[in-house]
Amino acid sequence: MQKKYLMTPGPTPVPAEVLLAQARPMIHHRTPDFSAILMDAVEGLQEVFQTGNDVLIMAASGTGAMESAFANCFCAGDTVIVARNGKFGDRMVQLGQTYGLAVVDLTYAWNETVKPADIEEALAAHPDARGVVVVQSETSSGVLNDVEAIGAIVKRYDECVFIVDSITGIGAVPCRTDEWGLDVVMTGSQKGLMLPPGLAAVSVSAKAWKAYERSDLPKFYFDWGRYKKSLDKDTTPFTPPVSLIIGLGEALRMMREEGIENVIARHSRLAEATRRGCEALGLALFAPPEGRGSAVTPVWVPEGVDGARIPKIMKEKYGVTIAGGQDDYKGRIFRIGHLGYFGDFDIITTLAALEMTLAELGYEFERGAGIKAAEAVFMGE
Ligand SMILES: Cc1ncc(COP(=O)(O)O)c(C=O)c1O
Repeated sequence: MQKKYLMTPGPTPVPAEVLLAQARPMIHHRTPDFSAILMDAVEGLQEVFQTGNDVLIMAASGTGAMESAFANCFCAGDTVIVARNGKFGDRMVQLGQTYGLAVVDLTYAWNETVKPADIEEALAAHPDARGVVVVQSETSSGVLNDVEAIGAIVKRYDECVFIVDSITGIGAVPCRTDEWGLDVVMTGSQKGLMLPPGLAAVSVSAKAWKAYERSDLPKFYFDWGRYKKSLDKDTTPFTPPVSLIIGLGEALRMMREEGIENVIARHSRLAEATRRGCEALGLALFAPPEGRGSAVTPVWVPEGVDGARIPKIMKEKYGVTIAGGQDDYKGRIFRIGHLGYFGDFDIITTLAALEMTLAELGYEFERGAGIKAAEAVFMGE
Protein backbone atom coordinates (compact mmCIF):
# COMPACT_ATOMS: atom_id res chain seq x y z
CA MET A 1 0.00 0.00 0.00
CA GLN A 2 1.14 3.51 -0.68
CA LYS A 3 -0.59 6.36 1.16
CA LYS A 4 -1.67 9.10 -1.26
CA TYR A 5 -1.44 12.86 -0.82
CA LEU A 6 -3.31 15.12 -3.24
CA MET A 7 -1.38 18.41 -3.24
CA THR A 8 -2.91 20.01 -6.34
CA PRO A 9 -4.87 23.26 -6.61
CA GLY A 10 -8.03 21.42 -7.67
CA PRO A 11 -9.37 18.89 -7.31
CA THR A 12 -8.42 19.04 -3.65
CA PRO A 13 -8.79 16.47 -0.84
CA VAL A 14 -12.31 15.89 0.44
CA PRO A 15 -12.69 15.45 4.23
CA ALA A 16 -14.19 12.17 5.45
CA GLU A 17 -17.11 14.10 7.01
CA VAL A 18 -18.01 15.47 3.58
CA LEU A 19 -17.60 12.11 1.84
CA LEU A 20 -19.86 10.47 4.40
CA ALA A 21 -22.48 13.20 4.07
CA GLN A 22 -22.51 12.62 0.33
CA ALA A 23 -22.93 8.88 0.79
CA ARG A 24 -26.33 9.31 2.43
CA PRO A 25 -29.26 7.69 0.59
CA MET A 26 -30.66 9.88 -2.18
CA ILE A 27 -33.50 12.24 -1.37
CA HIS A 28 -35.84 13.94 -3.82
CA HIS A 29 -35.05 17.55 -4.61
CA ARG A 30 -38.65 18.80 -4.58
CA THR A 31 -39.08 18.22 -0.86
CA PRO A 32 -38.94 20.42 2.25
CA ASP A 33 -35.94 18.36 3.41
CA PHE A 34 -33.88 19.30 0.37
CA SER A 35 -35.08 22.92 0.42
CA ALA A 36 -33.78 23.28 3.98
CA ILE A 37 -30.38 21.84 2.96
CA LEU A 38 -30.21 24.11 -0.09
CA MET A 39 -31.07 27.30 1.74
CA ASP A 40 -28.63 26.51 4.53
CA ALA A 41 -25.90 26.01 1.91
CA VAL A 42 -26.77 29.32 0.24
CA GLU A 43 -26.55 31.11 3.59
CA GLY A 44 -23.19 29.45 4.28
CA LEU A 45 -21.89 30.49 0.87
CA GLN A 46 -22.96 34.08 1.53
CA GLU A 47 -20.88 33.97 4.69
CA VAL A 48 -17.86 32.57 2.85
CA PHE A 49 -18.26 35.05 -0.04
CA GLN A 50 -18.81 37.81 2.56
CA THR A 51 -21.86 39.05 0.75
CA GLY A 52 -25.55 39.80 1.14
CA ASN A 53 -25.96 39.33 -2.63
CA ASP A 54 -27.76 36.42 -4.21
CA VAL A 55 -25.56 33.33 -4.48
CA LEU A 56 -26.64 30.95 -7.24
CA ILE A 57 -25.61 27.30 -7.23
CA MET A 58 -25.21 25.49 -10.54
CA ALA A 59 -24.32 21.97 -11.60
CA ALA A 60 -21.19 22.81 -13.56
CA SER A 61 -17.45 23.03 -13.22
CA GLY A 62 -15.98 26.49 -12.69
CA THR A 63 -15.95 27.24 -16.39
CA GLY A 64 -19.76 27.00 -16.43
CA ALA A 65 -19.87 29.81 -13.87
CA MET A 66 -17.39 31.84 -15.95
CA GLU A 67 -19.50 31.36 -19.08
CA SER A 68 -22.67 32.28 -17.19
CA ALA A 69 -21.14 35.62 -16.21
CA PHE A 70 -20.65 36.55 -19.87
CA ALA A 71 -24.02 35.25 -21.05
CA ASN A 72 -25.92 37.07 -18.28
CA CYS A 73 -24.17 40.43 -18.00
CA PHE A 74 -23.72 41.61 -21.58
CA CYS A 75 -25.24 42.36 -24.98
CA ALA A 76 -23.60 41.36 -28.25
CA GLY A 77 -20.93 43.89 -29.19
CA ASP A 78 -20.48 45.28 -25.66
CA THR A 79 -17.01 46.46 -24.74
CA VAL A 80 -15.48 44.42 -21.93
CA ILE A 81 -12.03 44.89 -20.40
CA VAL A 82 -10.33 41.59 -19.58
CA ALA A 83 -7.03 41.68 -17.70
CA ARG A 84 -5.16 38.40 -17.97
CA ASN A 85 -2.00 37.03 -16.43
CA GLY A 86 -2.49 33.31 -16.72
CA LYS A 87 -4.37 30.41 -18.25
CA PHE A 88 -7.73 31.27 -16.74
CA GLY A 89 -7.51 34.91 -17.77
CA ASP A 90 -6.86 33.58 -21.28
CA ARG A 91 -10.08 31.60 -20.99
CA MET A 92 -11.95 34.78 -20.03
CA VAL A 93 -10.76 36.41 -23.26
CA GLN A 94 -11.91 33.35 -25.25
CA LEU A 95 -15.31 33.50 -23.58
CA GLY A 96 -15.70 37.20 -24.39
CA GLN A 97 -14.81 36.51 -28.01
CA THR A 98 -17.15 33.51 -28.14
CA TYR A 99 -20.05 35.75 -27.11
CA GLY A 100 -19.21 38.40 -29.72
CA LEU A 101 -17.98 41.04 -27.29
CA ALA A 102 -15.44 43.75 -28.09
CA VAL A 103 -12.71 42.57 -25.72
CA VAL A 104 -10.15 45.11 -24.55
CA ASP A 105 -7.33 42.71 -23.85
CA LEU A 106 -4.85 43.70 -21.13
CA THR A 107 -2.19 41.02 -21.28
CA TYR A 108 0.51 40.57 -18.65
CA ALA A 109 3.25 38.01 -18.21
CA TRP A 110 2.17 35.09 -16.05
CA ASN A 111 4.45 36.21 -13.25
CA GLU A 112 3.16 39.78 -13.15
CA THR A 113 0.18 41.17 -11.28
CA VAL A 114 -2.64 43.06 -12.97
CA LYS A 115 -1.99 46.76 -12.35
CA PRO A 116 -5.04 48.67 -11.09
CA ALA A 117 -3.71 51.83 -12.80
CA ASP A 118 -3.97 50.03 -16.15
CA ILE A 119 -7.64 49.24 -15.47
CA GLU A 120 -8.18 52.90 -14.61
CA GLU A 121 -6.54 53.91 -17.88
CA ALA A 122 -8.50 51.35 -19.91
CA LEU A 123 -11.77 52.56 -18.40
CA ALA A 124 -10.86 56.17 -19.15
CA ALA A 125 -10.16 55.15 -22.77
CA HIS A 126 -13.37 53.05 -22.95
CA PRO A 127 -15.88 54.78 -20.66
CA ASP A 128 -18.65 52.80 -22.38
CA ALA A 129 -17.18 49.48 -21.14
CA ARG A 130 -19.85 47.30 -19.60
CA GLY A 131 -17.53 45.03 -17.69
CA VAL A 132 -14.10 44.48 -16.19
CA VAL A 133 -13.02 40.87 -15.75
CA VAL A 134 -10.13 39.72 -13.53
CA VAL A 135 -9.03 36.38 -12.08
CA GLN A 136 -8.31 37.06 -8.42
CA SER A 137 -6.13 34.02 -7.74
CA GLU A 138 -4.50 32.67 -10.91
CA THR A 139 -4.08 28.95 -10.44
CA SER A 140 -1.66 28.63 -13.34
CA SER A 141 0.79 31.12 -11.84
CA GLY A 142 -0.09 31.47 -8.16
CA VAL A 143 -0.43 35.23 -8.69
CA LEU A 144 -2.91 37.10 -6.53
CA ASN A 145 -4.45 40.17 -8.18
CA ASP A 146 -5.61 43.13 -6.11
CA VAL A 147 -9.34 42.99 -6.74
CA GLU A 148 -9.97 45.35 -3.82
CA ALA A 149 -8.11 48.19 -5.58
CA ILE A 150 -9.68 47.35 -8.94
CA GLY A 151 -13.14 47.19 -7.35
CA ALA A 152 -12.72 50.74 -6.03
CA ILE A 153 -12.04 51.92 -9.58
CA VAL A 154 -14.85 50.02 -11.32
CA LYS A 155 -17.33 51.22 -8.67
CA ARG A 156 -17.11 54.72 -10.18
CA TYR A 157 -18.69 53.49 -13.44
CA ASP A 158 -22.43 52.98 -12.91
CA GLU A 159 -22.96 50.74 -15.92
CA CYS A 160 -19.82 48.63 -15.66
CA VAL A 161 -19.85 45.39 -13.69
CA PHE A 162 -16.78 43.92 -12.05
CA ILE A 163 -16.53 40.16 -12.67
CA VAL A 164 -14.11 38.26 -10.47
CA ASP A 165 -13.00 34.67 -10.91
CA SER A 166 -12.31 33.61 -7.35
CA ILE A 167 -12.42 29.92 -8.21
CA THR A 168 -9.16 29.34 -6.32
CA GLY A 169 -9.60 32.42 -4.18
CA ILE A 170 -12.71 31.70 -2.12
CA GLY A 171 -11.75 29.99 1.11
CA ALA A 172 -8.03 30.62 0.61
CA VAL A 173 -7.57 34.38 0.38
CA PRO A 174 -9.69 37.31 1.59
CA CYS A 175 -12.55 37.98 -0.80
CA ARG A 176 -14.77 40.70 0.67
CA THR A 177 -17.39 40.73 -2.05
CA ASP A 178 -19.61 43.54 -0.75
CA GLU A 179 -16.96 45.69 0.91
CA TRP A 180 -14.80 45.65 -2.24
CA GLY A 181 -17.65 46.15 -4.72
CA LEU A 182 -17.26 42.82 -6.54
CA ASP A 183 -20.41 42.47 -8.66
CA VAL A 184 -19.98 38.89 -9.80
CA VAL A 185 -17.82 36.42 -7.90
CA MET A 186 -17.53 32.77 -8.78
CA THR A 187 -16.04 29.63 -7.33
CA GLY A 188 -16.01 25.90 -8.05
CA SER A 189 -16.57 23.03 -5.64
CA GLN A 190 -13.24 21.22 -6.15
CA LYS A 191 -11.17 24.00 -4.59
CA GLY A 192 -11.45 25.78 -1.23
CA LEU A 193 -14.91 24.31 -0.64
CA MET A 194 -13.33 20.86 -0.17
CA LEU A 195 -15.81 19.01 -2.40
CA PRO A 196 -15.53 16.83 -5.48
CA PRO A 197 -15.78 18.68 -8.82
CA GLY A 198 -19.18 19.40 -10.36
CA LEU A 199 -20.72 22.35 -8.58
CA ALA A 200 -20.24 26.08 -9.14
CA ALA A 201 -21.46 29.10 -7.19
CA VAL A 202 -21.84 32.69 -8.40
CA SER A 203 -22.74 35.78 -6.40
CA VAL A 204 -24.68 38.48 -8.22
CA SER A 205 -24.93 42.11 -7.01
CA ALA A 206 -27.81 44.51 -7.65
CA LYS A 207 -25.65 46.21 -10.31
CA ALA A 208 -25.10 42.85 -12.02
CA TRP A 209 -28.84 42.15 -11.94
CA LYS A 210 -29.35 45.48 -13.76
CA ALA A 211 -26.89 44.29 -16.38
CA TYR A 212 -28.81 41.01 -16.56
CA GLU A 213 -32.07 42.85 -17.30
CA ARG A 214 -30.42 44.53 -20.28
CA SER A 215 -28.47 41.49 -21.52
CA ASP A 216 -29.61 40.00 -24.84
CA LEU A 217 -27.14 37.15 -25.23
CA PRO A 218 -28.63 33.65 -25.66
CA LYS A 219 -28.85 31.56 -22.51
CA PHE A 220 -31.00 28.79 -21.12
CA TYR A 221 -29.33 26.38 -18.67
CA PHE A 222 -27.13 29.15 -17.30
CA ASP A 223 -29.85 31.84 -17.27
CA TRP A 224 -29.37 33.41 -13.83
CA GLY A 225 -33.00 34.58 -13.78
CA ARG A 226 -34.17 30.96 -13.64
CA TYR A 227 -31.91 30.24 -10.65
CA LYS A 228 -33.05 33.36 -8.83
CA LYS A 229 -36.74 32.70 -9.46
CA SER A 230 -36.36 29.17 -8.11
CA LEU A 231 -34.18 30.25 -5.20
CA ASP A 232 -36.91 32.66 -4.11
CA LYS A 233 -39.03 29.51 -3.72
CA ASP A 234 -36.24 27.62 -1.89
CA THR A 235 -35.52 25.39 -4.83
CA THR A 236 -33.50 24.99 -8.05
CA PRO A 237 -34.63 25.33 -11.68
CA PHE A 238 -33.27 21.94 -12.76
CA THR A 239 -32.39 18.70 -11.00
CA PRO A 240 -29.53 19.80 -8.73
CA PRO A 241 -26.46 17.73 -7.82
CA VAL A 242 -28.21 16.63 -4.61
CA SER A 243 -25.27 14.74 -3.08
CA LEU A 244 -22.83 17.57 -3.79
CA ILE A 245 -25.16 20.08 -2.14
CA ILE A 246 -25.50 17.83 0.90
CA GLY A 247 -21.69 17.59 0.98
CA LEU A 248 -21.48 21.37 0.58
CA GLY A 249 -23.62 21.77 3.70
CA GLU A 250 -21.13 19.68 5.66
CA ALA A 251 -18.08 21.47 4.20
CA LEU A 252 -19.60 24.84 5.06
CA ARG A 253 -20.39 23.62 8.57
CA MET A 254 -16.69 22.77 8.98
CA MET A 255 -15.60 26.14 7.59
CA ARG A 256 -18.03 28.04 9.82
CA GLU A 257 -16.86 26.05 12.84
CA GLU A 258 -13.25 27.03 12.12
CA GLY A 259 -14.34 30.59 11.31
CA ILE A 260 -13.78 32.08 7.87
CA GLU A 261 -11.01 34.40 9.09
CA ASN A 262 -9.22 31.40 10.63
CA VAL A 263 -9.63 29.42 7.41
CA ILE A 264 -7.91 32.25 5.53
CA ALA A 265 -5.19 32.55 8.21
CA ARG A 266 -4.51 28.79 7.99
CA HIS A 267 -4.04 29.08 4.22
CA SER A 268 -1.72 32.01 4.66
CA ARG A 269 0.40 30.00 7.14
CA LEU A 270 0.54 26.95 4.86
CA ALA A 271 1.55 29.12 1.90
CA GLU A 272 4.25 30.87 3.92
CA ALA A 273 5.68 27.54 5.11
CA THR A 274 5.70 26.19 1.54
CA ARG A 275 7.44 29.30 0.23
CA ARG A 276 10.04 29.39 2.99
CA GLY A 277 10.61 25.64 2.64
CA CYS A 278 11.23 25.89 -1.11
CA GLU A 279 13.46 28.94 -0.75
CA ALA A 280 15.52 27.14 1.89
CA LEU A 281 16.23 24.50 -0.76
CA GLY A 282 17.60 27.24 -3.00
CA LEU A 283 14.56 27.17 -5.28
CA ALA A 284 13.09 30.34 -6.80
CA LEU A 285 9.40 31.20 -6.44
CA PHE A 286 7.50 31.99 -9.63
CA ALA A 287 4.97 34.59 -8.41
CA PRO A 288 6.25 38.10 -7.64
CA PRO A 289 6.54 39.09 -3.94
CA GLU A 290 3.73 41.68 -4.28
CA GLY A 291 1.26 39.13 -5.62
CA ARG A 292 1.64 35.77 -3.96
CA GLY A 293 -1.60 33.99 -3.15
CA SER A 294 -2.24 31.31 -0.55
CA ALA A 295 -3.90 28.72 -2.80
CA VAL A 296 -0.92 27.38 -4.71
CA THR A 297 2.85 27.87 -4.74
CA PRO A 298 4.49 27.66 -8.16
CA VAL A 299 8.24 27.13 -8.12
CA TRP A 300 10.85 27.34 -10.88
CA VAL A 301 12.47 24.05 -11.79
CA PRO A 302 16.19 24.50 -10.97
CA GLU A 303 18.69 24.56 -13.77
CA GLY A 304 19.96 21.17 -14.86
CA VAL A 305 16.91 19.30 -13.51
CA ASP A 306 14.35 17.68 -15.81
CA GLY A 307 11.15 19.48 -14.75
CA ALA A 308 8.78 16.80 -15.97
CA ARG A 309 10.39 14.27 -13.64
CA ILE A 310 9.69 16.16 -10.41
CA PRO A 311 5.90 15.56 -10.26
CA LYS A 312 6.37 12.10 -11.79
CA ILE A 313 8.81 10.85 -9.13
CA MET A 314 6.89 12.51 -6.31
CA LYS A 315 3.71 10.76 -7.37
CA GLU A 316 5.07 7.37 -8.34
CA LYS A 317 7.65 6.89 -5.63
CA TYR A 318 6.19 8.85 -2.72
CA GLY A 319 2.44 9.05 -3.46
CA VAL A 320 2.47 12.86 -3.42
CA THR A 321 0.64 14.41 -6.37
CA ILE A 322 1.62 17.97 -7.19
CA ALA A 323 0.87 19.88 -10.41
CA GLY A 324 3.26 20.67 -13.22
CA GLY A 325 3.37 23.91 -15.16
CA GLN A 326 0.77 24.70 -17.84
CA ASP A 327 1.15 25.91 -21.43
CA ASP A 328 4.51 27.73 -21.87
CA TYR A 329 5.57 26.75 -18.34
CA LYS A 330 5.18 23.00 -18.79
CA GLY A 331 8.35 21.40 -17.41
CA ARG A 332 9.65 24.81 -16.28
CA ILE A 333 7.69 25.21 -13.06
CA PHE A 334 5.91 22.89 -10.63
CA ARG A 335 2.99 23.87 -8.43
CA ILE A 336 2.23 22.78 -4.87
CA GLY A 337 -1.44 23.19 -4.01
CA HIS A 338 -2.54 23.95 -0.43
CA LEU A 339 -6.11 25.01 -0.95
CA GLY A 340 -8.93 23.52 1.08
CA TYR A 341 -8.58 20.59 3.45
CA PHE A 342 -4.90 20.98 4.32
CA GLY A 343 -2.92 21.09 7.52
CA ASP A 344 0.67 21.75 8.54
CA PHE A 345 1.84 18.16 8.10
CA ASP A 346 0.65 17.97 4.50
CA ILE A 347 3.23 20.66 3.78
CA ILE A 348 5.97 18.89 5.76
CA THR A 349 5.24 15.65 3.90
CA THR A 350 5.30 17.37 0.53
CA LEU A 351 8.56 19.17 1.24
CA ALA A 352 10.10 15.88 2.39
CA ALA A 353 9.01 14.18 -0.84
CA LEU A 354 10.31 17.14 -2.83
CA GLU A 355 13.69 16.96 -1.09
CA MET A 356 14.02 13.22 -1.76
CA THR A 357 13.01 13.74 -5.39
CA LEU A 358 15.45 16.60 -5.95
CA ALA A 359 18.24 14.56 -4.35
CA GLU A 360 17.51 11.70 -6.73
CA LEU A 361 17.64 14.13 -9.66
CA GLY A 362 21.12 15.25 -8.66
CA TYR A 363 20.19 18.73 -7.45
CA GLU A 364 22.52 19.94 -4.71
CA PHE A 365 21.08 21.40 -1.53
CA GLU A 366 21.16 20.93 2.22
CA ARG A 367 18.97 17.93 3.03
CA GLY A 368 16.28 18.76 5.61
CA ALA A 369 16.55 22.52 5.10
CA GLY A 370 13.08 22.78 3.53
CA ILE A 371 11.37 20.91 6.32
CA LYS A 372 13.26 22.90 8.94
CA ALA A 373 12.16 26.19 7.40
CA ALA A 374 8.54 25.06 7.27
CA GLU A 375 8.67 23.87 10.88
CA ALA A 376 9.92 27.30 11.89
CA VAL A 377 6.81 28.88 10.34
CA PHE A 378 4.53 26.42 12.11
CA MET A 379 6.31 27.05 15.41
CA GLY A 380 5.85 30.79 14.95
CA GLU A 381 9.57 31.48 14.63
C1 LIG B 1 -8.78 30.32 -11.41
C2 LIG B 1 -9.58 29.30 -12.16
N1 LIG B 1 -10.53 29.70 -12.99
C3 LIG B 1 -11.27 28.82 -13.68
C4 LIG B 1 -11.07 27.47 -13.59
C5 LIG B 1 -11.88 26.54 -14.41
O1 LIG B 1 -12.63 25.72 -13.62
P1 LIG B 1 -13.06 24.25 -14.08
O2 LIG B 1 -11.84 23.50 -14.46
O3 LIG B 1 -13.71 23.75 -12.82
O4 LIG B 1 -14.02 24.41 -15.18
C6 LIG B 1 -10.08 26.99 -12.74
C7 LIG B 1 -9.81 25.55 -12.62
O5 LIG B 1 -8.77 25.09 -12.26
C8 LIG B 1 -9.32 27.93 -12.01
O6 LIG B 1 -8.35 27.52 -11.18
